Amino acid sequence: MKSFFPGILVGCLLATVGYAFFVKTQNNNSDSGAQRRVTKLKLAHTLDPSHPVHAAIVFMKKRLNELSDGALELDIYPSGVLGSEPQCIEQLQNGVLAMTKTSSAAMEGFTPDMGVFGLPYAFRDSKHFWNVLDGELGKELLMQGEKKNLRGLCYFDAGSRNFYSTSKQIKTPADLKGMKIRVQSSKIAIEMIKALGGSPTPISFGELYTSLQQGVVDGAENNAPSYFSNRHHEVCKYFTLDGHTRIPDVLLISTKVWKRLSPQVQQWVTQASNEASQFQRELWQKKTAEALVKVKADGVEVYIPDQKAFVEKVQPMLDAYKGTSIGNLLDRIRAVE
Ligand code: GCU
Repeated sequence: MKSFFPGILVGCLLATVGYAFFVKTQNNNSDSGAQRRVTKLKLAHTLDPSHPVHAAIVFMKKRLNELSDGALELDIYPSGVLGSEPQCIEQLQNGVLAMTKTSSAAMEGFTPDMGVFGLPYAFRDSKHFWNVLDGELGKELLMQGEKKNLRGLCYFDAGSRNFYSTSKQIKTPADLKGMKIRVQSSKIAIEMIKALGGSPTPISFGELYTSLQQGVVDGAENNAPSYFSNRHHEVCKYFTLDGHTRIPDVLLISTKVWKRLSPQVQQWVTQASNEASQFQRELWQKKTAEALVKVKADGVEVYIPDQKAFVEKVQPMLDAYKGTSIGNLLDRIRAVE
């Protein structure tokens, strides 16, 4: 029943709002009686409305409304109601959905170079992370999906990812032995969990709470705001701040839809997404700190491990990428100040 219900919901939403166009123009009667065109862009993502990335998207909706004086509307569908991240990306490719916010890990199957962000300990800290994303390499990767109808608009901070489990504190990689750990739909995430000694299990984000609750997996990994806002902390009382990856979120627009927009609308979308990215970076720090306070108050044991043991364990995995396209991108990331 549980898995049946979202299916129905997705079906109904697609049938009622998503059928033919995604850039929909309609004529509204204004007070003066004159007709005006309103362009609607539909945006779907999988996070909870209490998540700081959703707040950034709401901010963007407001800015688009202001910039266009009401002529451009963003319709937001959160919580995975239009499907998982890979499903939303596919809907962008065929132009049935205008925009999505996805983890760059889910982009790996479409633009493999994005996988570089999934390599463990690729970034030194948050400052290094943003220097890379704001720099040449970040811009290059953002636009790489264009050939696949996936135009990148901006990055959002998704912090660092950390392990959490239903049964025990993961203090060293040795604790991961025999544990089933949920991963995103990403080959690199699978390799990383194996390198650390765990058993990777790909599951969509929307199904993770139930999977943890029913013991399908013993743990997962994510940033603090996602762990908290999706209530995974209710079932996983052990959280280890090992910070293995910093995988950005990406805001995408279907290239098919983009090409149908006027230069003026394109400019509004570009400006509002850049402003939303800046807005979200500041909010992120605050919401991460808040999430940690809240999960502790709800009985979670937060553990800060020695990162060295984790870094050493993944080194052979990183070595295996030397000389490959991903390995060369990692070298470029590390060379950034
Ligand atoms: C992060 C990210 C999401 C992604 C999730 C996941 O929370 O922001 O976009 O879906 O990780 O682990 O699947």
